Amino acid sequence: MSQPRAVFAGSGIAVPPVRVDNHMLSRIVETSDEWIQERSGIVTRYFVEPGIGSADLGAEAAAAALADAGVEPGEVDYLVVATMTPDHYFPGSGPLIQQRLGIDPLPALDIRQQCAGYAYGLQAVDALIRSGIARTVLLVGTDVHTSIMPFSERTWDVMLNGAGELSPEELEWNNRFRHMVVLFGDGAGAMVFRAGDGDDGRGILASRLYADGNHKDILYVPGGGSARRPFVSKEMIDRAETVPVMDGRQVFKLAVSRMPQAVMEVLGERGLGLGDLDLVVMHQANLRINEAARKALDLPEGKVHNNIQKYGNTTSATLPLAFHEARQEGKAPEGSLVAFTALGAGLHWGAVLMRV
Ligand code: ACO
Repeated sequence: MSQPRAVFAGSGIAVPPVRVDNHMLSRIVETSDEWIQERSGIVTRYFVEPGIGSADLGAEAAAAALADAGVEPGEVDYLVVATMTPDHYFPGSGPLIQQRLGIDPLPALDIRQQCAGYAYGLQAVDALIRSGIARTVLLVGTDVHTSIMPFSERTWDVMLNGAGELSPEELEWNNRFRHMVVLFGDGAGAMVFRAGDGDDGRGILASRLYADGNHKDILYVPGGGSARRPFVSKEMIDRAETVPVMDGRQVFKLAVSRMPQAVMEVLGERGLGLGDLDLVVMHQANLRINEAARKALDLPEGKVHNNIQKYGNTTSATLPLAFHEARQEGKAPEGSLVAFTALGAGLHWGAVLMRV
């Protein structure tokens, strides 16, 4: 008997209400709409209201995906959640989302591979369904980056409400993070998968994932973990050690070569070529990265869907958010061949091939 395949059944997203454009960011760091657009392609991003965590956004996206799939929450028999900004240090977001959806107890797995988290999640879904462990899997990607932005209440007020101006000291502090805070937005996306027989060729077809700790230092958070005792302290916060360290240039260089390479590998595994692809959904860290990767793959513009302009980098939410929008625009109809690819902290990277 052949193994079941993980067949895509529906998708949904959650976009928070606070829309922030580049001009608003220029109130709190020395930057400009021109710099941000030219270097990253980003025009706007969306932020949650205070008190909303990644589990809230994730549950909203999950409910939308279940409705799109025509699947009742109670039919889900495995929940996988990718996030780098869980509501709490522990437990992870799986049980929080299960509770919000009102699902009876079920196995729930948290994945924390940052920007590559959703790609890792797709591989986990494939393995769970092919092994027969699960038949209906909900895969959620959700991140609330505003929670890790080192801004004072006054900074938020000036940014969002134009309430006066910051002092030179406040501006100097914020400027330390300007290369990073302009890139991120909050959001969530989810997909539902069901076991299918694969006779029609649909399903997750291949995945190739990597992790290499040799690049850990180019993107990581120094404080807030068990390598320190206590894991967080006032001194750490004062030294901004709970804020990510990011060497943008190095991440950029690795992304433009490794994402295309991983796409070629998953195609090769199935004896397929670039001409067979209908769509590539790339992680959205920088529009220039995705342009360079598209050119490296020699793909026409219409075969790569980018939405970083609108949302910024939403980490674990990026792949489902971009895939859902591409579907809505008719770029990923049933039967189309889609490659997902991502690279982020860790370093983690890879690609997943799916026939929709
Ligand atoms: N506004 C204005 N100027 C700025 C800003 C800003 N927001 N940020 C930095 N600058 C300045 C720098 O200080 C520097 O000035 P200097 O030349 O006087 O020293 C100048 O702009 C150029 O800075 P670079 O860092 O060299 O700019 P670059 O062209 O590399 O773009 C960027 C920076 C946008 C961060 C880019 O490198 C990038 O997007 N890299 C990838 C980021 C990424 O993938 N992150 C990982 C995803 S997150 C995850 O996995 C969790």
